[in-house]
Amino acid sequence: GPEDAYPAVVVGSGYGAAVAALRLGEAGVRTLVLEMGRLWNEAGPDGRVFCRMTAPDRRSMWFKRRTEAPLSSMLWLDVVDRDIDPYPGVLDRVNFEHMSVYVGRGLGGGSLVNGGMAVTPSRRYFEKVFPGVDAGEMYRTYFPRAASALGVNSADPDWLGRSTHYRYARVGRDQAHNAGLSTVHVPNVYDFGYMEREERGEVARSALAGQVIYGNDHGKRSLDKTYLAAALGTGNVTVRTMHRVDAVRQERDGGYVLSVEEIDTAGSTVAVHEIACRHLFLGAGSLGTTELLLRARDTGALAGLGEEVGAGWGTNGNVMAARANHAWNPTGCKQSSIPALAVDDWDNPVHPVFAEIAPVPAGIETWISLYLAITENPERGTLYRDPATDRLGLRWTRDQNQPSVTAAKSLLDRINRANRTVYRYDLFGDDRAFADDFCYHPLGGCVLGKATDGHGRVRGHRNLYVTDGSLIPGSVGVNPFVTITALAERNLARIVAEDVLGR
Ligand code: FDA
Repeated sequence: GPEDAYPAVVVGSGYGAAVAALRLGEAGVRTLVLEMGRLWNEAGPDGRVFCRMTAPDRRSMWFKRRTEAPLSSMLWLDVVDRDIDPYPGVLDRVNFEHMSVYVGRGLGGGSLVNGGMAVTPSRRYFEKVFPGVDAGEMYRTYFPRAASALGVNSADPDWLGRSTHYRYARVGRDQAHNAGLSTVHVPNVYDFGYMEREERGEVARSALAGQVIYGNDHGKRSLDKTYLAAALGTGNVTVRTMHRVDAVRQERDGGYVLSVEEIDTAGSTVAVHEIACRHLFLGAGSLGTTELLLRARDTGALAGLGEEVGAGWGTNGNVMAARANHAWNPTGCKQSSIPALAVDDWDNPVHPVFAEIAPVPAGIETWISLYLAITENPERGTLYRDPATDRLGLRWTRDQNQPSVTAAKSLLDRINRANRTVYRYDLFGDDRAFADDFCYHPLGGCVLGKATDGHGRVRGHRNLYVTDGSLIPGSVGVNPFVTITALAERNLARIVAEDVLGR
C-alpha cells in the first residue's frame, strides 16, 4: 500500500499549483507538492544559478543533447544552438508533429523561464472566453489578489523612455505609432527597481545580462520567491522536487493514490513512491495535467472521466516574427531581456493582435524588431494518449496556425509599409518570416465548465481538481499567467471552503 498519506497533494508547481499550495496551507491543510524539475537555488561553478542565453550549458534545457532555442539561426547560420549534456535543465520544448510547446521545469514551473509579462485581459474578451464566470468578482477581487501576490510592478515611464536597454522597445513603439497603431506599457513581475540598479552598476545583472528563457539569477519574482515561499511559510506545505507523477488512481474509499518516480540528474529513476491523498489538485500545466488524466481515463484507473478531457487545446494564437530595421535605426546591442512594451491592436474588428515587442539580447547590433504576437485563432487541437507508446500526442495541423499568421502579418505589414521596412527570413532555421510551429502559451485540455465544473472540479470523480492553464479554452488574448493565477484563486476560495473544510 501507499507509504505516505496527505490530506492534499498538488501535482506541479507552476501558477495554478502554487495558488493551491498557498491557499491549502493557509487553511491548515497538510499538503504535499510534487514537482518533476529541480529546485533552482544554488550557483554552479561559474557563480550563476542559471546560464545565459548566449552561452547555454546543461542547465538550459530538460534532458536534451542540443539546445532548441526559439530563434534558432542568424543570417541562416546555425550559430545559436549548442550541444549540451542531458540534465534536468529549466526549459523544455515538447515536440509534437506540427507544433512544439515550450514549458518551464523546476520549482516554479513557467515562472522560472517566462518573460514575466503580467497582463490582465480586457474584460470584454474575458467575458467572451468565460461566459460562466462572474467577471465582476474576477476584476474586483481575484485579478487584484493575483497581481498583489505575484508582485506585479511597472517600469518608471521616464526611465523606460531613456534607458539604453530599452532602445529596441522604443524603436518598435515609434514604428507602430508611424502606422497609426497604439502601444502600451506592460506590467511585469521582474522588479524594475532592481533593473534600474542593474543599469547603474549597483547590483548583479540578470535582465541586463541577457538572462530570461533559461532562468534569471536576480530580479525576477518567480513563484519560488512569492506564492511557494508563502506556502512553505504556513508550515503546512512540503515540497518534493525531482518527483514525477506517472499515474493516478482512485481507491474504493474515494481516496487517490499517485505513482511517483523520483529521478536523479541523469534522469534515472532512483525510487518509486506510492502516495495517497484525499484531495488531489492537478497543476502540471496544460500538457502535464491533461496527460495524467488521459492516461488515467484510457487505462481505466479513473474510469469516470469523459470525452472532454484532451479537448479544447490552443496556442493562445501565438506566432513569432521579426522585421529588419534600416541601418540608421539600430535597436541597440544592450537590450533588457524583459519585455516592457506591446503593440495593442486587440480592438481591431478583423484581426485582433496583442504583440509584445520582444528583445533580441544577442549582445551585438542586429537591427531586428522581434514580436511575439497573440492573436485570436479559433482553431483548437486535441491532446490524446497513444496507446502503443503511452505517450502524449497532439492533433494539430500546420494549417490550423494560418489564422494566427494571417493576423500577425496584417499588423506587421502595416508597420512595414509605414516605415518602408521588410521582414527577416533568416531567424527560424529556414526562410520563413513567421514561426508558426511553436508556442509559449499552451492552454486547455481540461476546459472549465466542460471537463470540469465551473470551479475546476473534474467531472466524474470527487475531490479531484484541475487548477492550471488546462482550464483555459485555448485563448485568453494576452500573456496568460495572471489569468491562470486569478482563476486558480477564485476556484480555490470555493473549493477550500466547500470541499476541503466542508463549510
Ligand atoms: P506551468 O507550466 O507553469 O507549471 C507546470 C509544472 O508542473 C512544471 O513545473 C512542470 O515541471 C510540472 N509537471 C508537469 N508534469 C508533471 C508531472 N507529471 N509530475 C510532476 N510535475 C510535473 N506568460 C505570461 O503571462 N507572461 C509572459 O511573459 C510569458 N512568457 C513566457 C515565455 C516563455 C519562454 C514560456 C515558455 C512561457 C511564457 N509564458 C508567459 C507562459 C506562462 O509561463 C505559462 O502560461 C504558465 O507558466 C502556465 O502555468 P501553469 O500553472 O498552467 O503550469
